[in-house]
Amino acid sequence: MNSIKNTLISKPNPDLSVKQVVVVPGDKSISHRSMILGGIAEGVTKVSGFLESADCLATMKAMQSMGVNIEKAGNTYEVNGVGKHGLKAPEDGQIDCGNSGTGMRLLAGVLAAQQFDSTVFGDASLNSRPMKRITKPLAMMGAKVQATENGTAPLKFNAVDQLKPINYESPVASAQVKSCVLLAGLYSDGEVSLTEPKLSRDHTENMLRGFGCELASDDLTVTMQGGQSLKAIDITVPADISSSAFFMVLACLLRDSQITFNNLCVNPSRTGVISILQLMGADISFENQTTTAGEQIADVVVKSSQLHGIDIPHEYIASAIDEFPIIFIAAALAKGETRLSNAMELRKKESDRITAMTDGMKLLGVECYELEDGIVIQGGKLNGGQVDAEDDHRIAMSFLIAGQFSKTTIEVRNCENIMTSFPNFLTICNDLGLNIS
Ligand code: S3P
Repeated sequence: MNSIKNTLISKPNPDLSVKQVVVVPGDKSISHRSMILGGIAEGVTKVSGFLESADCLATMKAMQSMGVNIEKAGNTYEVNGVGKHGLKAPEDGQIDCGNSGTGMRLLAGVLAAQQFDSTVFGDASLNSRPMKRITKPLAMMGAKVQATENGTAPLKFNAVDQLKPINYESPVASAQVKSCVLLAGLYSDGEVSLTEPKLSRDHTENMLRGFGCELASDDLTVTMQGGQSLKAIDITVPADISSSAFFMVLACLLRDSQITFNNLCVNPSRTGVISILQLMGADISFENQTTTAGEQIADVVVKSSQLHGIDIPHEYIASAIDEFPIIFIAAALAKGETRLSNAMELRKKESDRITAMTDGMKLLGVECYELEDGIVIQGGKLNGGQVDAEDDHRIAMSFLIAGQFSKTTIEVRNCENIMTSFPNFLTICNDLGLNIS
């Protein structure tokens, strides 16, 4: 894999205009799930368009370490599923999830149900993220799981024979929590249900159905019978709307421009960024809409537009949860005030994204301040300067896009983790003519 330098420089590009089609890499959420579900399915799951980023490769390696043979043939990964009960203990009992909360929390659902001991851990950022949200329901299901005193990873699992059913009310709208419980639920001997306060992304439900499981989704509750097994399928991973978001904001802000994003996953549980940008005045339209394997796909056309500040409606928070760093940059360059509240979850991501973005934007002269659960941003002023991405891929990419519109150069430190989700980010920037190096 190529690497990305720690410090990157983004130089203003005031005259740039682009009319281009961009194909961003495969969806990260679906890629993780393709390896985990494929690994515990019966038969060979063929995955094309898999996102070869550090996060998803860590999940692939985790499945391999438990005896799942995964081969690459051309652009397709062939995952030789071992069936739900065919996983083996990793050689040293340890699984390294790197920077990936999704990898850790989803794998935890499977590991909690195994008849062998294991430990999952991650890098400093992942080992400081909250894990009680999954260890609590897993323990209620009879898992023998132990976190650190602070409720963080490493998580240690001891062997169990069987998990119990659960009807769980999740306090957070989190697809990672929901997926963890559903995956553990496959190993339980009764009905499993989870209710969340707002609908989080539903790829696990869609994919489990694709693998032949029966699940009922009713508003905010998903229910399934434990004990079901998975049958291998072919998966084509659509392009990742979260990666496209950086260039969607770019297209809005450039003059006389249009970028078309082909084959994008526009599952309604993921399109909050489009709804928010449209409310801010963005010209965004869908073409060639289809549904494949339960996922809505479309080509999305984004044109130059005058953005203005808004009060971000709470209903869009869960479906835009990963896109707020770049939405904050759009707000800093829009006319008027943007206000976000009720978004405490942003403090629990790869970094505290409210503080990291506020600190960085203040250094660039943006008038903004933190709320306990959000941020207020006055648009219209963006100087150059040095900012720290705090090893958070999405903070890094957001400030690099900002540098195309700032008064002077923006230097962004600690960008390496762009590799966790978007390894060819710089290649696409180059193809579009951006001044980032
Ligand atoms: C993800 C769910 C989200 C998101 C993450 C990917 C997933 O986290 O932030 O990048 O693939 O399930 P939460 O579900 O914890 O909000």
